[in-house]
Amino acid sequence: ALVSLRQLLDHAAEHDYGIPAFNVNNLEQIQAIMQAAENRDSPVILQASAGARKYAGEAFLRRLVEAAIESWPDIPVCMHQDHGASAAVCQASIRSGFSSVMMDGSLLADMKTPASYEYNVAVTRQVADMAHCVGVSVEGELGCLGSLESGQAGEEDGSGAEGVLSHEQLLTDPEQAADFVARTGVDALAIAIGTSHGAYKFTRKPTGDILAIDRIRAIHERIPNTHLVMHGSSSVPQEWLQIIREHGGDIRETYGVPVQEICEGIKNGVRKVNIDTDIRLAMTGAMRRSMMQNTSEFDPRKFFKEATAAARQICEQRFDAFGCAGRA
Ligand code: G3H
Ligand code: 13P
Ligand code: ZN
Repeated sequence: ALVSLRQLLDHAAEHDYGIPAFNVNNLEQIQAIMQAAENRDSPVILQASAGARKYAGEAFLRRLVEAAIESWPDIPVCMHQDHGASAAVCQASIRSGFSSVMMDGSLLADMKTPASYEYNVAVTRQVADMAHCVGVSVEGELGCLGSLESGQAGEEDGSGAEGVLSHEQLLTDPEQAADFVARTGVDALAIAIGTSHGAYKFTRKPTGDILAIDRIRAIHERIPNTHLVMHGSSSVPQEWLQIIREHGGDIRETYGVPVQEICEGIKNGVRKVNIDTDIRLAMTGAMRRSMMQNTSEFDPRKFFKEATAAARQICEQRFDAFGCAGRA
């Protein structure tokens, strides 16, 4: 059944677990996530970015999710719009049937330029008013992640957006978060706590304490009824990087957020954990390996099947680690 983000995250908060929100673009990713959710008896958040809408088109995304809900009627599914650039974008998604939208007002509509706080409040408030009328949940964002251009190098130093962001800009302020939530009425809030989008988060192997856990705790204590969201939560599995490299791929040394660190975040109030890159890496690794191992094969289903299995395994691991298994 289609449910709102608020419904899923209220349950997660009540029972102290986190829910992975996986980005989807096509049939195979949706099937992988749904199969994993069935195997782990987990609720599901499927999220579509602007890139996904451009890739698949609104009608295909809508009908793929409808098909998932029809095929797995017992699994609660939230269909969430990731990083809405404007109120108009959010309105279109609500009309398309999404049960949750993110208004990312931390950036202007070009999705590059950091926005003023007052702009963020006004545009997010506008979306919340509109969405709540029809039972749709709203996620806002306060604070700037390194960069939204996934795959771009050097994001961890914050040099992705307009110029270099200061350390304070890269961490959400708890007092401002409280003001933001009071003035906008968002259900969930994406916070900046040291993560960035894409595969190139850290150039050296993280040795614990890479997330601003104290900051997460301080924000959670200040706004306990607003569910915290962690973007840029891929762990960048080294085993998949190795498989990609062993099968003709070329990806330089890079590290993500260790699953253990995400679990610390969940203990301190994080409820929604955004993951895209890990599924991309697993699917690419599986396809590269399958193609090199089966050089005379030309039925793409063979490769897609391997990719689906690899994505499914990532999803199962995250459902287990975040305490989400058994909660559907
Ligand atoms: O927020 C970024 C997500 O990973 C989506 O990326 O815009 O390439 O679909 P995308
Ligand atoms: P990753 O690039 O770390 O998977 O983050 C995805 C994300 O935050 C989507 O909004
Ligand atoms: Zn994001």
